[in-house]
Amino acid sequence: MRVLSQRSRRGGLRLAAFLVLGLALLAAAALSPEAALAQATRGDVAQETPTGGNIPGNSLGSASDTEIWRQVRRGVQGTVSIPDPNAAQLIQSQGESWRAWRNGPLSTVGGWAMLGMVILLALFFALRGRIKIDAGPAGRTVERFNAIERFAHWLTAVSFIVLAITGLNLLYGRYVLLPIIGADVFSDLTSAGKYAHNFIAFAFMLGVVMMVVLWIRHNIPNRYDLIWLSKAGGLFAKGVHPPSKKFNAGQKVIFWVVVLGGISISLSGIALLFPFEFKFFEGTYAVLNVFGAGLPETLTPMQEMQLSQLWHTVVGLFLTAVILAHIYIGSVGMEGAFAAMGSGMVDENWAREHHNLWMAELKGEPMPDIGGHGDGKPQPAE
Ligand code: HEM
Repeated sequence: MRVLSQRSRRGGLRLAAFLVLGLALLAAAALSPEAALAQATRGDVAQETPTGGNIPGNSLGSASDTEIWRQVRRGVQGTVSIPDPNAAQLIQSQGESWRAWRNGPLSTVGGWAMLGMVILLALFFALRGRIKIDAGPAGRTVERFNAIERFAHWLTAVSFIVLAITGLNLLYGRYVLLPIIGADVFSDLTSAGKYAHNFIAFAFMLGVVMMVVLWIRHNIPNRYDLIWLSKAGGLFAKGVHPPSKKFNAGQKVIFWVVVLGGISISLSGIALLFPFEFKFFEGTYAVLNVFGAGLPETLTPMQEMQLSQLWHTVVGLFLTAVILAHIYIGSVGMEGAFAAMGSGMVDENWAREHHNLWMAELKGEPMPDIGGHGDGKPQPAE
């Protein structure tokens, strides 16, 4: 019993000591200069502001601003009475991800894609050299593209090249050009480039529409495309010429990349030209969700802009890399090719080697034998 009462006395003493220590700490805290200042400030605020330091309307029922600022930081959307609804969001955190994507992986991967394509083409040229007309030029020519077709091609080509250069300047100019030409010249050049980009875009759109109207019927896939693809177009071996009508499978790929990529880059460009007017991504996501993509179907106008910008850049970089290959094969890469888009007239032997079925059709000849796939007899045109 004595032992028990001794223990409870010791416990009581310890409790009392804790209480005294706790009270001493509280008193010290209350008397500290910061606490005194905080109390004075709270008192001042209470006296000086109409809401007495509370959130106006006391809607959250708290005197603390912390939570509301946390919400603002997380991008809460409020309401405003001015006409700009975007002003109702003070902090849009997705902007940070947008910037990180644009200046990070997008710029890096895009740069490597274009550089990679140039290296591949240089390697191809080193190994294969210029693809010659195997039978040598015949000296007689046939019309391959008429004036309207060439106009459509060069309208698209020239506008695309200006768009590509001015667009690449927006992405890489500050790293590549600015250190060389200085801030003043770079600034003048870039703002002129931006105007060129915005207006010349319409010439590109017109060119793409003309190409669709003129060439879509020649770019429907047919059975010869499989043979052409299985032989890699004969690009890697001398004397191999798989069958082809007006456009071979490789050209059809270029055509559809230009048309579909052109439409996509035009739509995202229009969304950037007329800010906050379109909701293309909400629409696209809704369609993708039909296939279970699970994408958000409600986006803020600012998110729409950011996604449009990223997509515009992705498609632009991809198209530029692909077009580099096209420019190569249409100029230095293949003897006789450029004339098709230059004068519109091509050498007959070039036409027979690269577009034998088209040439036969043009001349009203029987369809040539296509290496075990044809019987040499005239075949109905597809
Ligand atoms: C200096 C740049 C360019 C050159 C030298 C060039 C050359 C050529 C040539 C020679 C052809 C006809 C090929 C044939 O006879 O079968 C052609 C076709 C074509 N070009 Fe270009 N081109 C250039 C730029 C562009 C650009 C920038 C685009 C689009 C953005 C483009 C899109 C097309 C398309 C869709 C075709 C038809 C499909 C094909 O032949 O691949 N071209 N080009």
